[in-house]
Amino acid sequence: MAKISTDIEEAIRLLQAGELVALPTETVYGLAANAFNADAVLKIFAAKNRPHFNPLILHVGNIEQLKNLVEDFSAIAKEILAKYSPGPITLLLKKKSIVSDLVTAGSEFVAVRIPNHPLTLDLLNRIDFPLAAPSANPFGYVSPTKASHVEQQLGDKLELILDGGECQVGIESTILGFETGEFGSGQIIIHRLGNITPEQLKQDFPNWEVIIANDGKERPIAPGQLKSHYAPAKTCYWGNIEKLAKQYVNIKIGAIMFQAKTNLFAEDKQIVLAPDGKLETAAKNLFAALREIENLDCDIVLLEEMPHQGIGLAINDRLKRASSNN
Ligand code: TXA
Ligand code: MG
Repeated sequence: MAKISTDIEEAIRLLQAGELVALPTETVYGLAANAFNADAVLKIFAAKNRPHFNPLILHVGNIEQLKNLVEDFSAIAKEILAKYSPGPITLLLKKKSIVSDLVTAGSEFVAVRIPNHPLTLDLLNRIDFPLAAPSANPFGYVSPTKASHVEQQLGDKLELILDGGECQVGIESTILGFETGEFGSGQIIIHRLGNITPEQLKQDFPNWEVIIANDGKERPIAPGQLKSHYAPAKTCYWGNIEKLAKQYVNIKIGAIMFQAKTNLFAEDKQIVLAPDGKLETAAKNLFAALREIENLDCDIVLLEEMPHQGIGLAINDRLKRASSNN
C-alpha cells in the first residue's frame, strides 16, 4: 500500500526514478509522473485504466518552466496567467516538440497549469521536468479531494501519496482555449467549467468574447469531457428536488442537497453540501459527498440542481455527468 506522508524529498526521488506519486492541488489530488519519461507516463494510464486518447495536463511551478513547453505564449495567455496563477486554471496552448504525443494524445495543443498548493508548488519548483497529472481516481469515477480518497482506490498502484490535507477548491480547474482575432481581442473558450467562472472572465477581459464549448454537444473537444463521468456506484438523478421526488415514489431515496434537507423523504439519507449557502462550500464538499452516497441505504440518489450562477455552473456540470447514465 502507498505511504501517506508530507515528505517532498521522497516524492522527488520517486518522480525522478520514473515512479508515480499522488499530489495535492487546490482543486483535486493528481496522479503525477515525470512528463518527459514515456514509461512513467504510461504508468499513469495503466493505474487509472485510462484510454490513451485522453490527454494529460502538465503541471509546472512557474511561468519560466511553462514557457519551455509551449510555442505560442500569447499576450492573452500571459494576462490570464498573471491574473489567476498559481490557481485553478488550465490553458490549452500550442506545444513545443519536447512535449510528447503520448501526453497530448496526438494533439498539437498541450494543457498546462500552475497549481496553487504550497507542498506541490514547492516540489514543482525543485524539479527540472513537468509533471503529467490527471485526477487521481480510476477512469470515469469521482475525483479525490483527500489523501484517503486516493488511498482507497489507487493505494496499491503507487508508493507515495503526498498529504496536503483537504483540497480547498474541490472541483477540477477551469480549462481555457483561445481564438485570437485582431486588435488584441478574440474568443476565450471554456472547455471545462471550474472555479474561475464565465462571469469572472467576462469581467476581467471585457474585450474578449467568452464562450462555453460543447454546451450540451455530444463530442467534446477536451476528450475527457465525456458525458458520463464522475459516476458513483449508485443510480443518480439530477434536477429540481420537488419534481424528482414526485417522480420516484415507493423506493428508498437518498439525496445530495445544496443548503438544507427537504421533508419530502427520509432526512437521515440526505447530505447537505453547504449549510452556509455558499456555492464555494458546495464545490469543496461535492466529491466527498458523491463518494459518501455509496454507503447510504437507498435505491436511488437525487442530486439537487444548484443555482445557475458562478461556480454553480461547474457544480451542475459535475452533477449532471454523475447522473448521465440515467
Ligand atoms: O484541476 C485539475 O485540472 C486536476 C488537477 C490534478 O490538476 N487535473 C485534472 O486532470 O482534472 P484530468 O486528466 O482528470 O482532466 C483533464 C482534462 C481531461 O478532460 C482532458 O481530456 C483534458 O483535460 N485535456 C488534457 N490535455 C488536453 C489537450 N491537450 N487538449 C484538450 N484537452 C485536454
Ligand atoms: Mg479527471
